[in-house]
Order: sequence, then structure tokens, then C-alpha cells
Amino acid sequence: MGKPISFARGAPSLDIVDVDGLRTAAERAFSADPAGVTAYGTAIGYPPLREWIAEYHQVEPEQVMVTNGSMQADAFLFEALVEAGDAVVVERPTYDRTLLSLRQRGADIRMVELEPDGIDVAALERMLDAGARPKLAHIIPNFQNPAGCTLSQPKREALLELARAHDFTIFEDDPYAALRFEGSPLPTMLSMDGDAVVYASSFSKTVCPGIRVGYLVGPAELIAKVVKIATGTYISPSMVAQAIVHQFCLSGALERSIETVKVALRERAKTLCEALRSELPEARFVEPEGGYFLWLDLPEGADVDALFRAAAEREVQFVKGSDFMLDGGGSSLRLAYSGVTPAEIEEGVSRLAEAYRDVLVGVERVSAA
Ligand SMILES: Cc1ncc(COP(=O)(O)O)c(C=O)c1O
Repeated sequence: MGKPISFARGAPSLDIVDVDGLRTAAERAFSADPAGVTAYGTAIGYPPLREWIAEYHQVEPEQVMVTNGSMQADAFLFEALVEAGDAVVVERPTYDRTLLSLRQRGADIRMVELEPDGIDVAALERMLDAGARPKLAHIIPNFQNPAGCTLSQPKREALLELARAHDFTIFEDDPYAALRFEGSPLPTMLSMDGDAVVYASSFSKTVCPGIRVGYLVGPAELIAKVVKIATGTYISPSMVAQAIVHQFCLSGALERSIETVKVALRERAKTLCEALRSELPEARFVEPEGGYFLWLDLPEGADVDALFRAAAEREVQFVKGSDFMLDGGGSSLRLAYSGVTPAEIEEGVSRLAEAYRDVLVGVERVSAA
């Protein structure tokens, strides 16, 4: 049936990873600081990278900890702040691993609908007025995973106001911020109100996921509490990986890498939108302005479970919309365009459309019988 094509993984393809730049950064890291790179280090992360991140976000180093990927930062933060039964607001849909992690902690998960310009703030306000007392609102503000949309500036302001009025923390989970390929960047909520926000980001999407370097920025007392949890968990994260990232940042390779990734993503997103318009005109989507993902709504009643199987028979993978919600999402899916070339995208969408028509014919046959 041809080569497998995966729209499933939110990861870059190898051709947009700067392998040579990473090799050079590794050599520099071992020569510049052999003691720091090879020691255990501490749970705050590799100090020079911590300082670089603090400078980048215009905060104090005490407000930053560097972790093994931002997933680890999320896990530590949830451990510090969320107990069983605590209400936590998340977007609907949201990142599946966040849902899983909150479920494992026994959180009372309150999903609030996501609109093309971000979470439905009015619905959140109604929920709060009705008595909900969340500890945390988890928000993916830029090029959301899985829906691809971005929180508008007025909604950023409104959300911060709600957080202050109802005394909850906004967890700004922001690994895609640097990957805007259309439009103008918006300020982080962290920069708008450092007291109401804990911020996480990552080098997974801009450098490569295998390096496993992410970070958390927040009020110094909270970071100190999280650092204690991290010490008890792993003593320290990988100094080798973090020192490599540090050298990668210092040399200007990070900016070049972000540019390479953005150029590829722009072309891939454009190809995907064009292919979908011509092959699946009945599908609805918001055109991404950055990031890795496009969310596809098929006509109501479309059976994405059946489509998933039919696509797999044609060696095409995607993630079902229902994986990103507590319920519903049965006629939606997430397409990641970060790991596929334009040619693969065209071929993949053509196979996907074929699978969709097959599933439709099957449904029509059953209903006619
Ligand atoms: C919204 C969001 N948060 C966190 C992560 C985890 O990233 P990391 O590789 O830094 O652990 C991802 C990865 O896909 C993500 O999409």
C-alpha cells in the first residue's frame, strides 16, 4: 500500500533537526565545562541554562527550573499543586497527556470549550460564578495541541482577570510559542502577570524532542517547592543535555533552528490545507498560524473510529479527536504536519480521503440494509 505516513506524532522530521549544530554544541559543552557537565548537578537544572532562560523571560533565575522535557515540569507542578478532588480547568480539547496526568492524580477535571481564538472565557466565568473553585487552569496559548488555535490578546487579559478575582493559578503550557509562521506574536501571560501564572516551555519543538529539555517559570517560593520534589525524584536532570542546549542557544544555532523549523512548518501547513480543501471539502478546520497541528472536524455523525481503522489499512496514522476529551470528539481528528514532507502530506491526505469515502459507503450500505 506504499510507505507508512504518520500524522500522529507531534515531533519534527529528521531533516529539520540541526544534527551538526547539536554535535558542535556537545563538543563545546564538554570542552567549556567538563566538571559541570559530568557532575550530578542539582534539581534546578544546569545553572548557565537556567540563567539564559531567566534572561529570555526577564525573570530572576530563582523563578526558573530546567527539567527533563516540559512533560516532567507538568508532572512536578501537578504534584505540588493538585490533590485528589481538586478542580482543574482544562481546554476542550486538550493535550492528551495532560488529561492522563490529571486523571491519575484524581483531579476533578473541568473542560471548557475551545474556540478559534482560545478558551471560551465567558463559559469559564459562568462556571466560576456557579461556584467552581479551581486551583489551576491549564492553558496552551499558542498553536494549541491538539486544535492549533491561539488565545487572543483580549482573552489573555480576561483570563488573568478571572484568575485574580477567583484566586486560581494559570498554568501557561507554551512549547510552540516560537513557531509562529503567520501573524504577530502575542505577549505571554507570564509577562503580563507573573504572580498569577506558572509557565512551562520546551526545546523539544524548536531543537529536538530527544534532547529532553524543558522548563518551568513561576513565583520563586513555588519553584523552590517544586525543586524539592524534583530532588526526591531524580536528584537532578541531565546536565549533559542541558549543557548542550545552553551552547546551542549561545552560538545562535537556536535562532537558526527555529527559522528552519518555521519555514518547513509554513510549507507543510499550507500543503495540508490545500490538500484537505481539494480532497475532503466537507471537512472543517482553522488554518494554523504556527505550531505542529491542524484539527479537523468531519461532518456530524462521521465515525472517526472507523476512519482510523480504514486509514491504518492504508498505512496512514492520525490521533482521534476523542483522545483529547473526556467525552465527545467522535467526528474530529488531529493531524500533525511537523513530521511529514509536503509530498507525504499530499499522498497521506489522498489516502485519508479514500478511507473516508470507504467508511461513508459502508455506513450508507448498513443504513440501506
Ligand atoms: C502542550 C504540550 N505540553 C507539553 C508537551 C511535552 O513536551 P516535552 O517534549 O517538552 O516533554 C507537549 C508535547 O507534545 C505539548 O504539546
